[in-house]
Amino acid sequence: MTQHSSAPATGTAPAVRTDASGAPAGWWRDAVIYQVYPRSFADGNGDGMGDLAGVRARLPYLADLGVDAVWLSPFYASPQADAGYDVADYRAIDPMFGDLHDADALIRDAHELGLRIIVDLVPNHSSDQHEWFQRALREGPGSPLRDRYHFRPGRGPKGEEPPNDWESIFGGPAWTRTENPDGTPGEWYLHLFAPEQPDFNWENEAVRDEFRSVLRFWLDMGVDGFRIDVAHGLVKAAGLPDMGRAGQLKLLGNQVLPFFDQDGVHEIYRSWRRILDEYPGERIGVAEAWTPSPERTALYLRADELHQAFNFHYLNTAWNAEALREVIDQSLDSMRPVGAPTTWVLSNHDVVRHRTRLGGGLARARAASLLMLALPGSAYVYQGEELGLPEVADLPDEVRQDPSFFKDNGQDGLRDGCRVPIPWTRAGSSHGFGSGGSWLPQPGQWAELSVEEQTGDPTSTLELYRSALAVRREHPALGAGESVQWLEDFPAGVLAFRRRAADGSGRDLICTANTTDRPVELSAAPGRALLASGEYEGGAIPADTTVWWEV
Ligand code: GLC
Repeated sequence: MTQHSSAPATGTAPAVRTDASGAPAGWWRDAVIYQVYPRSFADGNGDGMGDLAGVRARLPYLADLGVDAVWLSPFYASPQADAGYDVADYRAIDPMFGDLHDADALIRDAHELGLRIIVDLVPNHSSDQHEWFQRALREGPGSPLRDRYHFRPGRGPKGEEPPNDWESIFGGPAWTRTENPDGTPGEWYLHLFAPEQPDFNWENEAVRDEFRSVLRFWLDMGVDGFRIDVAHGLVKAAGLPDMGRAGQLKLLGNQVLPFFDQDGVHEIYRSWRRILDEYPGERIGVAEAWTPSPERTALYLRADELHQAFNFHYLNTAWNAEALREVIDQSLDSMRPVGAPTTWVLSNHDVVRHRTRLGGGLARARAASLLMLALPGSAYVYQGEELGLPEVADLPDEVRQDPSFFKDNGQDGLRDGCRVPIPWTRAGSSHGFGSGGSWLPQPGQWAELSVEEQTGDPTSTLELYRSALAVRREHPALGAGESVQWLEDFPAGVLAFRRRAADGSGRDLICTANTTDRPVELSAAPGRALLASGEYEGGAIPADTTVWWEV
């Protein structure tokens, strides 16, 4: 079997890193991080909406699943115009999710179970109900508080045109006109997302100070890191220049824009890194950064900036061996110079669930998951993907809550279909999500996809994830790493690579993913089959199936 390495092998096992206390360091380099969407994970008080008590009660499930850390989407005080990504108070829990005691108890319980907690930080914009924005509105033009956001007079003779031509990611102009305290039409303010999400002005020192303080507040609460929402958006080009064209959504993630991926953001993350490093135990920052290329994403991960960034280039890749190989190489190559771990993600609360998106049903989703978990670096699992949940495509319009209509960035339409509360039990109100129904209706199929139904069934997706995470934890060839060795001697459409055991034991692992829709016969088994995403019992690898082999 000929082999091609995507990078020169170093020949030596990486040294075990240790922190000041001598404990192994770099937990985040190979962590599997599970995303909890608090509204839809578990409802502790029976009001139909998930909450922190619900999450806390289900932590043993997550520990048992075998993940290393839990990232919670926002649970802060919020009018919920964008499901909590519109924060009114960064230091308070929304009553619908609980209170600070619940957060404290959740963090403590998680730590006792060996799980780390990552919270979502939303620094690009606040809610329009945030005290600063409300005061800025009340005090009118000229108030120094207006400088904490982007207020501008309109264009046109009566100021009736927006100050520039920027478009909101959720559609329409990125500007909304205010009313002066005396009721006359006033200045406009910038919101790259919904009108209820005014953008902060990061040139203002009070904004910078406030977020450093918010970081410390949650670090003092004991969190292990932050997922930084719209990390690429904080700094806007000086003078807020026109884009000069419409259809700006098409450019997102393809080029540097006057409102996205400006170089000035990096200084902010350098100052945050200094704060993270003041705390023991390796607290991390994870960038949600939509940039034009993996190379530009890597800039957020220089040694004195953040630790990880989501790999949206991988998420946006079709189920195709060549395309996957290319994005995997490109991802690994671009992270290597900055020494950051590559991350892998297939689903989150903003995109169509990968079971549906990849177009091949459950078999393909399982194959994609097993492939992802074999890649070097850290992986993200979105709640419910371990159950093989599909996108709920037929939600009635009247129950939908998502303000967005992302259409051109891989997000096709409204995002509620991946946010339906997950099923825990076959029967019962909302399949065990809670005792009081669920805020989005669950499809009938949820019974057979429930945790209860799948637990203990070796053919279930849940048990596949449990096994994969257990093998990944134990196996010296899985987890952190900087490269894969591509294996060329496989039939077309089979992605095959080898990972070297990091401990010198020689227990290498080969991963083969048959991305085709036909069974593929191998000339010889590449090793002992450890785990397969489909029914592999020797002979041909079934269509849409990934197999892990120990060599
Ligand atoms: C991020 C979040 C998304 C939210 C947006 C605005 O992309 O993941 O859910 O709508 O930021 O905060």
